[in-house]
Amino acid sequence: MKKVTIVMNGVTGRMGYRQHLVRSLLAIREEGGLNLPDGTVLFPEPVLVGRNAAKLEALAAQHGLTNFTTDLDAALADPANEIYFDAQVTQARVAGLTKAIAAGKHVYTEKPVAETLDEALGLARAADAAGVRHGVVADKLYLPGLRKLKRLVDSGFFGRILSVRIDFGYWVFEGDWQAAQRPSWNYRAEDGGGMVLDMFPHWRYVLDHVIAPVKSVYAHSVTHIPQRFDEQGEPYAATADDAAYAVLELEGGIVAQITSSWATRVDRTELVAFHVDGTHGSAVAGLRGCRIQHRNATPKPVWNPDLPTSHDFRALWTDVPENDVYDNGFKVQWAEFLTAVATGAPYAHDLWAGARGVQLAELGAQSAREGRRLEVPAL
Ligand SMILES: NC(=O)c1ccc[n+]([C@@H]2O[C@H](COP(=O)([O-])OP(=O)(O)OC[C@H]3O[C@@H](n4cnc5c(N)ncnc54)[C@H](O)[C@@H]3O)[C@@H](O)[C@H]2O)c1
Repeated sequence: MKKVTIVMNGVTGRMGYRQHLVRSLLAIREEGGLNLPDGTVLFPEPVLVGRNAAKLEALAAQHGLTNFTTDLDAALADPANEIYFDAQVTQARVAGLTKAIAAGKHVYTEKPVAETLDEALGLARAADAAGVRHGVVADKLYLPGLRKLKRLVDSGFFGRILSVRIDFGYWVFEGDWQAAQRPSWNYRAEDGGGMVLDMFPHWRYVLDHVIAPVKSVYAHSVTHIPQRFDEQGEPYAATADDAAYAVLELEGGIVAQITSSWATRVDRTELVAFHVDGTHGSAVAGLRGCRIQHRNATPKPVWNPDLPTSHDFRALWTDVPENDVYDNGFKVQWAEFLTAVATGAPYAHDLWAGARGVQLAELGAQSAREGRRLEVPAL
């Protein structure tokens, strides 16, 4: 058994607590640790870091942990702490990662890695120069629905892929007559909020890995709800975009249309749907499920609004079977990153991949400002 000590910053937040501490590292501990290829068992030891000592103490006590501090510099100065993890608000990220890299720690981080491409590239270069390992959360790739979709792509099911339609979103309450279900900083541009900065980094790695590399972007972003109410019930100006409507071109002439909205009501089976059309078949994947229709099972509707629809179109799709065990995606990626750090194996979802995500967000925002389509140059 070998211990690996991980400084976890932002662990009182939604993502830091639920997905990364509880569902990933504590879950790995409950399983007795992580089995490395050489038979060693790696046991993660979290050091909880944040700004509020009382909250950290309560959190540590609740989970039988003892190591917590509000002093990030001291945690980074301790040579026993090997890895730094960041799930702070987006705006605090660059400072945290920069310090950790300078202290010689391996770093793993939530997305977006920065608010600008320059800063994101700076982090990737600094980490490479320091010789530390680096990883960025790419959780959507581990969703059962997207893993089934990737399996379909790899099997050649689609023939030639023509287009992709991503429909993401749900209603985020304004916060007055019902509490909002997302933190208020997400809706303030000055605090690092906004749909494009939040979701385009996800769409970048999803498209690059599952469908084809992104080549250009046109985006139209809007703030549909201009006033919201914060955690204290106080009104604030929602200065960030809460929806974005984008058209992207991918390698091979594939067209991707992406709707991302916190101001829409769900009429889908899941909070996100990925609809892929190919010459030989189509698929609709969600977070968990995936349905397909092969060209041999494709109906031949004839447009005639004078008659009621003769086909039950949804009934003609087939569920893709599970055929696998899908563990929590955040946990699976933690296991991969910890294994890469321990063994020195290459790690694909690194700060360069994180920078590509920020690049798409930055170009998406620029496209929306200027009202034009922009190339996405290779980094
Ligand atoms: N991978 C995903 O699917 C996913 C989903 C949601 C959010 N995120 C990302 O995770 C990060 C955190 O989002 P969240 O929804 O958990 O937010 P949150 O507001 O719930 O948590 C933010 C954390 O940062 C800390 N924090 C707040 N203000 C700070 C400041 N000024 N300086 C330092 N720390 C501060 C808070 O104490 C808290 O621990 C964001 O960067 C967001 O983009 C990723």
